Amino acid sequence: MKKFSPRLNKIPESAISEMNNFARLCKAINLASGYPDFDPPQAIIEAAVSALRRGHNQYADTAGSGSLRRAIARKFSRFSGLEVNADDHVTVTVGGTEAMFLVLAVLCEPGDRVLIFSPFYENYAVGLHLLDAQPVYVHLRPPDFQIDRAALRSEFEKGAKAIIVCNPANPSGKVFSEEELRFIGSLAQEFDAYVITDEVYEHIIFPPNRHVYAAALPGMFERTITCGSLSKTYAITGWRLGTVIANEEITEKIRLVHDYITLGAPAPLQTAAITALELPDSYYEEIARQYTEMRDIFLDYLEKSGFKIIPPQGTYFVLADISPFGFDDDRQFCYWMAREVRVAAVPGSSFFAEPVNHLVRFNFAKRPETLHEAGRNLLDIPKLV
Ligand SMILES: Cc1ncc(COP(=O)(O)O)c(C=O)c1O
Repeated sequence: MKKFSPRLNKIPESAISEMNNFARLCKAINLASGYPDFDPPQAIIEAAVSALRRGHNQYADTAGSGSLRRAIARKFSRFSGLEVNADDHVTVTVGGTEAMFLVLAVLCEPGDRVLIFSPFYENYAVGLHLLDAQPVYVHLRPPDFQIDRAALRSEFEKGAKAIIVCNPANPSGKVFSEEELRFIGSLAQEFDAYVITDEVYEHIIFPPNRHVYAAALPGMFERTITCGSLSKTYAITGWRLGTVIANEEITEKIRLVHDYITLGAPAPLQTAAITALELPDSYYEEIARQYTEMRDIFLDYLEKSGFKIIPPQGTYFVLADISPFGFDDDRQFCYWMAREVRVAAVPGSSFFAEPVNHLVRFNFAKRPETLHEAGRNLLDIPKLV
């Protein structure tokens, strides 16, 4: 048989999938993977049932159903203050995952350098490797994840097609300030690079932090491509609905590739998603309150169990420092914790380009009862190590 593509050699097994599988095997509470264990609002579920019954069962417009794109444009304008329009700027994708891959596929030539802050969400580098483009990592050092501005400038000077900014960032929980985004934007302008943002956690932010849309900063819309998702905001990770918001020319290219790659996101769920996008401001205030409560419950258990924590500014992830427990290796710790304590997390090293192996990532988007059960298990760690 002929050989597989050598590109695969650059693609590691996903640490998240690995830990999911191990969690299942040892019946651990799964705080490794990135989904909530609660339902979306009932109105959204009813809207999906109704869409199926009303015959929305065939392909939608491949760019996304017109009424959903209009709802996305309205909501983006409402929160970002930037007027975008459904026909020229909005494409509906199969999750934020397809959105990011399409953007990279449209922009990158083989060998192109794309800057990524490390720690990073694991999909970015994989997408670049599949396109023979080159991820270039710019380190954000824990625990405060400040940008090393000289290092960032130096990477732009060496040449960069684009920079990916995950904001709020998985796994660090960092929320980029307006001032940081302006700095990144000024470098992108100076060196004529694109800014690709991944804003799937735009509404999961802990005060006093607030979300700033990079595309809405002065002069930035033309070179900023905003990847979004409905997965996290509405607790519908299984619906697979994402968005790309970009200027007219980029949108045209995105739609061209999207049409061939997936043809379109699920039509009945697109119809139902309009109900989600039209939820009032109080919905977003309420989820911010609920996530703050989940964070507080879980971080309290982590601290009492002896972890040193890096409090997240946004997202539903927390990086916790395992140094007090005497393990040499985060992976070994995660396997041990899933087996002995029955709580699964992801080894932090899988998110860092540099050798960092004293952190693990927990997902706290869980019902209070799940968090209390996991938390009680974690309290056993000091007795077991
Ligand atoms: C930073 C980030 N971007 C994108 C995604 C994928 O989102 P979607 O479900 O919309 O494909 C995730 C999922 O965990 C994520 O954490």
